[in-house]
Amino acid sequence: MKLELCHQEFSKEEISEVVASLTSGFVTMGDKVALFEKNFAEYIGVRHAVMVNSGSSANLLMVKALAKRLSPGDEVLLPALSWSTTFWPVVQSGLKPVLVDCDPETLNIGPEQLEEALQRHPSAKALIVAHIMGNPAPMKELQAVLYDHPMPILEDSCETLGSTYYGQKTGSFGVAGSFSFFYSHHMTTIEGGMIVTDDLNFAERCRVMRSHGWSRGLNDPVFRREVEALSDIDPRFLFIDEGYNLRPTELNAAIGIHQLASLDKRNTKRKIVNRKMMDIAREFSVDTIKVYEETDVALFAFPVMLENETERDALSLHLESNGIQTRPIVAGNLARHPGMAKHLASGLKLNGANKVSDCGLYWGLHPYVTDEQLMHLEKTLASHFKGVKAA
Ligand SMILES: Cc1ncc(COP(=O)(O)O)c(C=O)c1O
Repeated sequence: MKLELCHQEFSKEEISEVVASLTSGFVTMGDKVALFEKNFAEYIGVRHAVMVNSGSSANLLMVKALAKRLSPGDEVLLPALSWSTTFWPVVQSGLKPVLVDCDPETLNIGPEQLEEALQRHPSAKALIVAHIMGNPAPMKELQAVLYDHPMPILEDSCETLGSTYYGQKTGSFGVAGSFSFFYSHHMTTIEGGMIVTDDLNFAERCRVMRSHGWSRGLNDPVFRREVEALSDIDPRFLFIDEGYNLRPTELNAAIGIHQLASLDKRNTKRKIVNRKMMDIAREFSVDTIKVYEETDVALFAFPVMLENETERDALSLHLESNGIQTRPIVAGNLARHPGMAKHLASGLKLNGANKVSDCGLYWGLHPYVTDEQLMHLEKTLASHFKGVKAA
């Protein structure tokens, strides 16, 4: 018996839509991407959505667009506990990353950690929040802390899709939010990502950079005509900003349109599996994470915290040898990775992120987990914690 980190199933509609895109002869970014963007913006509750080829690309464009409103070298606060590509776009945009510790109980930046970081870095100019493992960060409390230090917030919501805080979806609190549709996430386009924002100018900047930096990336026809009228260069190849090629294909969007329509159904199943896994964890007094009362949470995976590194490693080994896949919680403390360390001050006190790095692991939680798999998980934990032989 196995419990994998993730499992996805592609419906008949998704497969037919992909085949229809292939046979139509139009496979690069077009109408299906535009429709998926429109539907996704509506789902999150924002005005604009820009699809790209990964969550990392969404973070890159989102930070690049923000950097145009900041000055080179400005400090940007971001979570010590997150993924590498929450961090790198800050460096790649000529800004200075400053890590903020996490609350090890929620895995997210909390108000205390933000206050502490602001005391150390009162001149920080922006904040990136990541909603870790499907658990929304306490955005209203964080916004309250920023009352005396107003600054734009970006949300890396690549691990969280559909969870709400005070009824509002993650990704819609700040200037912009990013999502990932990688295979293991709440919904997939195989590879894919999205930037959401209420700010038209921000969205347009992302669209231009997404496609080579050309004016054809502009969505607003009036603005596009105005920009193109300012130049005598052929508007078919007119470049107005820095450019990348981070475009998705129609095939990715074809899957996305249907995956989005069935997302809430799958998230309900995630919640049911979560409740059952919570009961099992409680049976063995294994600590899970804390969620805020005002949240409705569809977890990405099932994170647990052990007493220390030795206990964590022993449990990880036991689960893996019984077919239950595990992983560290995101990248752990980013400051401990050699790639990031050279961009950071040494001697940072990041006790929360260190605790998660040393004592945390997660196993898979997805909508297709069966009762048999849950029983296997329970028996495997029993054999570890109580010396009962695993089935
Ligand atoms: C917090 C966070 N940000 C960004 C990403 C990058 O997403 P992608 O794998 O689609 O590039 C991930 C990946 O899982 C993530 O966990």
